[in-house]
Amino acid sequence: MANTTTGRLIGLNAIVTGAASGIGRQTALRFAEEGATVLAADLSADGLTKIKSEIEGSGGTCHTHVTDVTDSGTVSALFEYSDEVFDELNCVVNNAGITLTGGVHEISESDWDREMTINVKSIYLMSREAWPRLQKSANASILNTASIAGSWAIMSDAAYCASKAAVVMLTKCMALDGAREGIRVNCVSPGFIDTPMIHGFFRDQSDPAAARAGAIASHPLGRLGHPSDIANGYVYLASGEAEWVTGTDLTVDGGLTSGLWSPGE
Ligand code: NAI
Repeated sequence: MANTTTGRLIGLNAIVTGAASGIGRQTALRFAEEGATVLAADLSADGLTKIKSEIEGSGGTCHTHVTDVTDSGTVSALFEYSDEVFDELNCVVNNAGITLTGGVHEISESDWDREMTINVKSIYLMSREAWPRLQKSANASILNTASIAGSWAIMSDAAYCASKAAVVMLTKCMALDGAREGIRVNCVSPGFIDTPMIHGFFRDQSDPAAARAGAIASHPLGRLGHPSDIANGYVYLASGEAEWVTGTDLTVDGGLTSGLWSPGE
């Protein structure tokens, strides 16, 4: 795998949050495969040990830091660690997130706050630490994981949808603020991706098997997304190929939000 001489991210130093599972894990793997050095951050120490050994087993370089992205203290510690292991920081992928289902009449105040803190406030905490470091570095960018739920309402998922709409707008605001400072800011909006998060979402439905089948059928390209579908978008956005791309919400959703679709026909 990694540290080839032909990779698209050779020389890039990147922090990836939520790197122990799903989209973040695959993004860390793909970045390393393209030659980046990765600092993987997550709550899960076990998951970080696994991703480190997977990347390093393939010849890449992976540092790890157990981090709670909602806690400004551990976020500061993460960036202090990045100062130790990187000569410069080029990219931050703010990917950690959760989904807690329920309409506003169902979701508790504490769950509402938790959802907003993990999905939105964490991006503020991470980005304000990243900013002065990225100002000094080449090909600097911040990448945020939004969702098609940021522009498409999902029944019984009010807090999640509201949080992801906030991620899209925060991305655009940060893109304007970073434009003259050499910092590009973009987000990716995935459709339904086959990860532990979406498995939990299906389990919460009254008929999980039907929910999964319905989700597959609603994507015109005929399957759920793979984490690599999203990681590939991040590789492009982090690379020099995207040097004129900022403020973009890259939809990667198998056609889900393109328009009306009749899977039965
Ligand atoms: P996942 O559940 O597989 O992975 C999420 C990771 O984030 C886990 O390793 C978890 O330990 C970590 N995490 C959670 N809270 C954290 C915290 N406070 N501090 C540090 N790490 C924390 O989920 P998945 O599916 O990979 O989701 C990643 C991102 O993609 C999330 O932002 C999610 O909202 C978004 N997304 C996922 C979709 C899907 O269908 N799976 C669709 C659209 C967006």
